[in-house]
Amino acid sequence: MLQLQPRASLSPSAAPLYLCMIFKLLFNFVAKKLHKRLLQLGASVLLPVGLADDQHDLGSDAVIDPWLTSFWGKAVTLYPTLADVTPLRDDEPLPPTYTFHFLDGVTEKTDDRLSIPTEQPVPSQSHPFPCRLVSNRRVTDVSHFQDVRHIEFDITGSNIEQTPSRLTNYQVTLKQASSTTKTKVPARLPQPCAVRYLVESYLDINAVPRRSFFELLLTFATNELEHEKLMEFSSAEGQDELLSYCNRPRRTTLEVLADFPHTTAELKVDYLLDLFPEIQPRSFSIASSLQAHPNRLQILVAVVSYKTKIHKPRRGLCSTWLASLDPAQGEVYVPLWVKKGTMKFPKEKDTPVIMVGPGTGVAPFRSALQERVAQGKTANVLFFGCRSESKDFYFRSEWEDMTKAGHLTLVSAFSRDQEEKVYVQHRVKENSELLWDLIANKRACFYIAGNAKEMPASVCDALKEAFQQEGGMSAEEAEQMLTAMERSGQFQSETWS
Ligand code: 2AM
Repeated sequence: MLQLQPRASLSPSAAPLYLCMIFKLLFNFVAKKLHKRLLQLGASVLLPVGLADDQHDLGSDAVIDPWLTSFWGKAVTLYPTLADVTPLRDDEPLPPTYTFHFLDGVTEKTDDRLSIPTEQPVPSQSHPFPCRLVSNRRVTDVSHFQDVRHIEFDITGSNIEQTPSRLTNYQVTLKQASSTTKTKVPARLPQPCAVRYLVESYLDINAVPRRSFFELLLTFATNELEHEKLMEFSSAEGQDELLSYCNRPRRTTLEVLADFPHTTAELKVDYLLDLFPEIQPRSFSIASSLQAHPNRLQILVAVVSYKTKIHKPRRGLCSTWLASLDPAQGEVYVPLWVKKGTMKFPKEKDTPVIMVGPGTGVAPFRSALQERVAQGKTANVLFFGCRSESKDFYFRSEWEDMTKAGHLTLVSAFSRDQEEKVYVQHRVKENSELLWDLIANKRACFYIAGNAKEMPASVCDALKEAFQQEGGMSAEEAEQMLTAMERSGQFQSETWS
């Protein structure tokens, strides 16, 4: 439900609305609001609003299927000509979206850099810029459970340097190109292209397939057993079964195809783009500032790898691919563009900032700190949390240098260096007096970045407790103060799941 993508396009005035969505977790907020507004405008209700959650389970089909049945019932009553349309049979495939024309004697394009336009506009989704990978360094100790990478790109000639606010609080979006370890990255699908290239570098064969994938597969199934199973997975009644087979263990499209060998052998190449989604771009907070690192752009990437009941580990497509890139083995180019993040830092030199960024949540704050220090803004407090002082304390020496120079107050929380877990919210609570003074007396801005699970809410609770303790407020007053801070932009967050 909480997606990073839409936030980037929010206007500043919409930001408080977004924050309220984060913290109050309003389910289907937009649908409800639109419904209410249409009623206000005099619309009459055809059907009760159907609310489903596509992100977390397939249970949404249990809501959508009956809703659609009622909808078509009503639609046919209102527009009887619709009843004359002959529906497709279950086993009849829709025509493919694209048809493939096989060409003889065409050389496959292999170097995507050749497709860079000579007049490069500011990079965007439609015009990513292939930036040279400068370094890819593991920043966690080898004995640490997680591989986290500090990755640097050379953005010379990309026009990203011209971006007005000098990249602080921008996100970089990478157009990940390969589901294998190939390093060539297409900005768009080159034409003509080899089918092998299409499957290896353009289509996402590692995604968990959706119900529509099984519906299309069904139309090719001639083997009785496979047909029966696919019928079940395509039906409304079979959605629990599909959830257990596919979504819970995070089974990939490729693995599903291996489970249906007869049907896979029947697939027609023209349907490739209907069966597999295009690999989607991934966004990362920029972790560096151009003032500290001219012509460079750095990110901090935790390589996603976890186990489900399927024996083989599940791996994040983009982070695994990024980690595999080695500039020492030859030049590597990654197409990317930047877009604005949501956090805004104060322009006034004397306004202090308090940043809470455990784990890779520290990335946007490193960028902001480098920028602020370069501008002589030295009232900075950073709460950083990690598991162990010796294993995953990212950018430790940089924080120590800033601290020595009097530009930073660093408060760290090492969750697993002692028996009891210590988290950033515990440190926030312990530092109530300092925080109250900065926020209430010096109008400090407070920021949270990181994993959206429980950390942001716990930090907010700790902050409200600090208001109660130091400001003599009731729980209600502390809540009101935090809400007012959200509204005015004195409290901001950028979280991801
Ligand atoms: P843990 O893994 O030992 O539980 C960066 O990931 C840091 O955030 C780690 O030290 C991690 O601790 C910690 N963390 C995990 N859950 C958290 C939560 N709910 N609130 C704050 N920090 C948390």
